[in-house]
Amino acid sequence: MTRHLLRDDDLSSAEQLEILELARELKADRWAQKPLAGPQSVAVIFDKTSTRTRVSFSVGIADLGGSPLIMDTGNSQLGGKESPSDTARVLERMVSAIVWRTYAQTGLEQMAHGATVPVVNALSDDFHPCQLLADLLTIQEHKGTLAGLTVAYVGDGANNMANSYLLAGATAGMHVRIGAPEGFQPEGRFVDDARTRAAQTGGSVLVTASASEAVAGADVVVTDTWVSMGQEDQKADRVAKLGGYQVTSELMAEAAGDAIFLHCLPAYRGYEVAAEVIDGAQSVIWDEAENRLHAQKALLAWLLAKNEAAL
Ligand code: CP
Ligand code: NVA
Repeated sequence: MTRHLLRDDDLSSAEQLEILELARELKADRWAQKPLAGPQSVAVIFDKTSTRTRVSFSVGIADLGGSPLIMDTGNSQLGGKESPSDTARVLERMVSAIVWRTYAQTGLEQMAHGATVPVVNALSDDFHPCQLLADLLTIQEHKGTLAGLTVAYVGDGANNMANSYLLAGATAGMHVRIGAPEGFQPEGRFVDDARTRAAQTGGSVLVTASASEAVAGADVVVTDTWVSMGQEDQKADRVAKLGGYQVTSELMAEAAGDAIFLHCLPAYRGYEVAAEVIDGAQSVIWDEAENRLHAQKALLAWLLAKNEAAL
């Protein structure tokens, strides 16, 4: 069976730790692994805009000895003209893995169904698992561990980052708290999945409308844009309803004294986070952005090794 990363809980706790360990090794010695050495390519497809994902996958695939094939749906047949599954049947004949940033999670599931090469979710409306590997790597670097830590995600609790924090955080044995107003809280099915995973790892999940309750004593504070890609026409409504959930210095003061702040970027200062927080001493956002490279190289190397072993 080909392994894919479509959502964060596609990895077990042990597998997540294995990938993070490989990421640390690759960060320490950037060209230590070249599993793609030879004429191997990875297709990286974008239905939405990107800076970090585009650059980190392009550079990471080259670091691993392969060639990145960057495709935008605007100039390919995917999206309207050709189905994800037909696209996968073609690409798997030519590339070693398919990385795709898209809208609906179902598209990724169709792409992966029966695919003989790994399919990686580079952000969908529901999840951003590559970002979470980078975030967990960053938290590990700054805190020395993951299991047992409390992470508070504040703001739009119904978006891809919140869902991924639920699943990946629970997989890591963290206590995940989501502070978001009604109407912006995660769907019950994602909370249930996270709770199931947390029950196996010693983690826990709390969803609250109180930002203060979420952040109280937390080791890690996270937020994300209030207006995700595809939601631009809802901006005024979202800003009005999420206005009380900005991560301010006052809110950070309610977290642990040595708490760190993460944001996947791009950030909107003055909306989801105050400039003094994201640009302040507790912010680790640039390490987080760099870690996309190391985490995704580890993920690709790991997936390709698993795939080779399965052949
Ligand atoms: N964090 C993130 O995925 O950034 P990009 O949208 O720039 O890829
Ligand atoms: N939630 C954001 C993340 C961007 C990296 C979005 O989907 O636009």
